[in-house]
Amino acid sequence: MPKVRKAVFPAAGLGTRFLPATKAMPKEMLPLVDKPLIQYGIEEAIASGIHNIVIVTGRGKSAIEDHFDVSFELEHLLESRQKTDTLRAVRQISDMIDVAYVRQKEALGLGHAILRAKDLVGPEPFAAVLSDDVIDSEVPCLKQLVDIYQFYGCPVVALMEVPNDVISAYGVVAAEPVSQAGHGPNVYRIHDLVEKPRADEAPSNLAIIGRYVLTPEVFGAIESTPPGRGGEIQLTDGLRHLLRSQPIYGVKFEGKRFDAGDKLGFLKATVEFALKREDLGGQFRDYLRTLGF
Ligand code: UTP
Repeated sequence: MPKVRKAVFPAAGLGTRFLPATKAMPKEMLPLVDKPLIQYGIEEAIASGIHNIVIVTGRGKSAIEDHFDVSFELEHLLESRQKTDTLRAVRQISDMIDVAYVRQKEALGLGHAILRAKDLVGPEPFAAVLSDDVIDSEVPCLKQLVDIYQFYGCPVVALMEVPNDVISAYGVVAAEPVSQAGHGPNVYRIHDLVEKPRADEAPSNLAIIGRYVLTPEVFGAIESTPPGRGGEIQLTDGLRHLLRSQPIYGVKFEGKRFDAGDKLGFLKATVEFALKREDLGGQFRDYLRTLGF
């Protein structure tokens, strides 16, 4: 079974749910406590054994490239002030990854963004991570998917149960659990996928969350997928195409997911991640108590 070595981070969306903050700043650079969203995703990839990162960027996204680049001026300043810990934090992430960029000139959908990475990925399996889905878990969510990929050698998507009143915001699957020795009970074989169905037409309450392990055949499947909802080329529709030639599995992952591309989801993530921080959690908890909720 080929190893999953590369992860694609689509980051060329317009982030309209977070305007006006995202007018000039990429959504992926919004800081959760003190790290940009995309860095959480990249750290998850590293913790899942993936160090080759492909970021799909668009207009106005140069802050992402700067973030993962070396900043000689800043490093020199930190060095001269003997801020060793900060220097280490600034250096660490770029030292651990090999990053390449490809451009999506127009935000024509997630499927289209993934397709832009075709040449950089080549003929091997790869992960895709939507960094506005931040997942806090003991075992990295992507690792949970990679493990199932290693078992079946087929595409695997992350699944989460969502309430019916919000299901129409997601890609939704029709699926049945597979009980197979060698992995836990949270694995599903997918029979169909629908992008943003009406609540009364959703095939289940299992929504696709922004973590995928994909096979290179997905590129051909996306290429033959016409624009769907909103005139965009949807990854869900591409996967539906792929389902004709390959089984697709889903993992109801263990962990807590935050939709940090949405204002309320972002606030929830900020509070929970801050409370968990050793250096901030205690003081922040004390502060929250003074608010008297
Ligand atoms: P979202 O569905 O969150 O879309 O994309 P968005 O446009 O960024 O945000 P809203 O909904 O308008 O607020 C999920 C991920 O896919 C990327 C986004 O950057 C985000 O990381 N994406 C989406 C692209 O790279 N290209 C696209 O054409 C669409």
